[in-house]
Amino acid sequence: MLIRILILSLFTTLCFGDCNFDEITKLLKCNNIKAEAIVSKYFNVKQNVARIYWENCEITKLEANVVPFEQTQFLKISCGIREINPNTFVRVNNIIELDLSNNKISRITNQMFDNLSNLERLNLNKNVLRNPPREAFTKIAKLKELNLSQNRITNIGTAVLDMPKLQNLYLNNNGIFVLLADTFEELRNAKIIDISNNDIPDLSGVFNYTKDLEVLKLSNNPVQKIDVHLFKVATLLKELDMSNCQLDNLQLEAFTGINNLEKLKFSNNPIKQIQQGLFEQMTKLQEISISNISISSLTTTTFQNNNMLNKLDLSNNQLSNLDEGIFANTQLEYLNVSNNKLELFRENLFRNRRLKVLDLSNNGFENIDVLVNQPLQMLYVRGNKIDYIGPQTLPRSLEYLDITENRLIYIEDSLFEQMPKLRMLEFLGNPLACACFNNILTALSNKSISFTKGNYFDGISSFCVVYETFHCVIKRQELKKFYYQYELIKNDVLLDTVYFRNN
Ligand SMILES: *[C@@H]1O[C@H](CO)[C@@H](O)[C@H](O)[C@H]1NC(C)=O
Ligand SMILES: *[C@@H]1O[C@H](CO)[C@@H](O)[C@H](O)[C@H]1NC(C)=O
Ligand SMILES: *[C@@H]1O[C@H](CO)[C@@H](O)[C@H](O)[C@H]1NC(C)=O
Ligand SMILES: *[C@@H]1O[C@H](CO)[C@@H](O)[C@H](O)[C@H]1NC(C)=O
Ligand SMILES: *[C@@H]1O[C@H](CO)[C@@H](O)[C@H](O)[C@H]1NC(C)=O
Ligand SMILES: *[C@@H]1O[C@H](CO)[C@@H](O)[C@H](O)[C@H]1NC(C)=O
Repeated sequence: MLIRILILSLFTTLCFGDCNFDEITKLLKCNNIKAEAIVSKYFNVKQNVARIYWENCEITKLEANVVPFEQTQFLKISCGIREINPNTFVRVNNIIELDLSNNKISRITNQMFDNLSNLERLNLNKNVLRNPPREAFTKIAKLKELNLSQNRITNIGTAVLDMPKLQNLYLNNNGIFVLLADTFEELRNAKIIDISNNDIPDLSGVFNYTKDLEVLKLSNNPVQKIDVHLFKVATLLKELDMSNCQLDNLQLEAFTGINNLEKLKFSNNPIKQIQQGLFEQMTKLQEISISNISISSLTTTTFQNNNMLNKLDLSNNQLSNLDEGIFANTQLEYLNVSNNKLELFRENLFRNRRLKVLDLSNNGFENIDVLVNQPLQMLYVRGNKIDYIGPQTLPRSLEYLDITENRLIYIEDSLFEQMPKLRMLEFLGNPLACACFNNILTALSNKSISFTKGNYFDGISSFCVVYETFHCVIKRQELKKFYYQYELIKNDVLLDTVYFRNN
């Protein structure tokens, strides 16, 4: 009986040192162990090991015999490897996924991976690889995904990427400073290409052959202009990210034909102006991010054909006005206009009543009454000029409200009754009268609504303005005067509590 239990447990999980073999998933997982030790201990079950995952071990060089498990399909080793014996992968041709990310590999050679005839995914992310040799990958017959991100590649030579079957290519976070027009010439089936975070200034002709591209990530490159033909063949493109480049304009012609776009990101570029009709043909757009592109206005027709648009980031611009009809045809659920120069919204701006998240922080709003009919869940109005929130002016659906750094002296108790779903209220940085401040704290604790302590409230003493009375009763006409007095002293951070005379 005892022996039977022993044998049974031997089959379910085998544990030697820091290794663990799971009979069901066929995963051999090891920590802190020498490669030779793993191999000798698992020699008996090696026929069974389908998946190998070794980490935190010290294997500076991968030797030819290190992976003797013929059935292995998934192999991940992250053990500080610096060098790979060219014969390491000659006899393990069942591997489908090879993950050598997070090592210190600086060099790979031609033929090293050639016999991995079933390999579909190769991950070399986070190593110190230099420019790969010409035939390092091209002979891997079934390779679909190649991850070379976070290495030290500066140049991709001609023909290195001649891989017509490759679908996903990640070259992001390297030091690539030039891409020639023929680099991607054979990537005719590539769907995802990520070359973000490199030093590529010019992309002319680079995408002339990648007709199947769906996702293209180019952010954080010093690209100054988009050639009018750049995306001409990439008509299937769904996602384009050119944030943090140096684009100083977007020519309409450069975008004709890419009508399948769903996500478009151009934040942090000195673009200055959105041309009339830029988004007109892109009727499938769901998300547009044009934060910090130095625009001061948008015309009423900018989004008129974008019936699917539900996420729009216009933050960090100089917008002082949004025309009443500008969102009329959209399905906006998320709008970010923080850090602009807006002062009021027109009654009908959000006719479709779908807004769930709205960020109005750091503008010049004095009231936000027009939002009451939106199904808002999160509202950010930090850093505006709101001195009063009237009854029935905020949506009942609110779960999160940030009114930090406004001009509120008090908040009426009825506000909490109006927002039964509220779970978090950020309200510090207002010149709250002390009696009112205490009322708010009581109400928040009664309703289990959280807030962040900090800045003006360290958890023990509060920054509030002592008003004459011990009761929180303030007349609306006094608000402006009160705020003016507060402005004079608010930067004096040494003051926890400020005394005012009400005269
Ligand atoms: C590796 O592949 C080459 C041809 O690509 C072949 O000649 C060689 O026999 C293979 N090696 C093994 C051990 O399968
Ligand atoms: C590339 O590898 C890194 C590290 O393993 C991983 O975080 C990243 O998701 C990989 N990229 C893709 C898209 O597979
Ligand atoms: C890319 O294609 C366009 C036409 O679509 C052509 O004008 C341009 O010269 C090509 N660029 C290169 C470098 O082949
Ligand atoms: C805005 O974009 C510029 C580049 O055009 C960048 O240097 C700056 O840091 C960005 N500012 C913010 C607030 O992101
Ligand atoms: C709005 O944009 C600003 C600046 O880009 C960002 O910091 C903030 O997190 C965004 N707000 C929301 C709610 O996503
Ligand atoms: C909140 O206030 C109500 C009415 O004043 C009271 O009945 C209730 O016990 C309080 N709840 C908590 C958790 O303090």
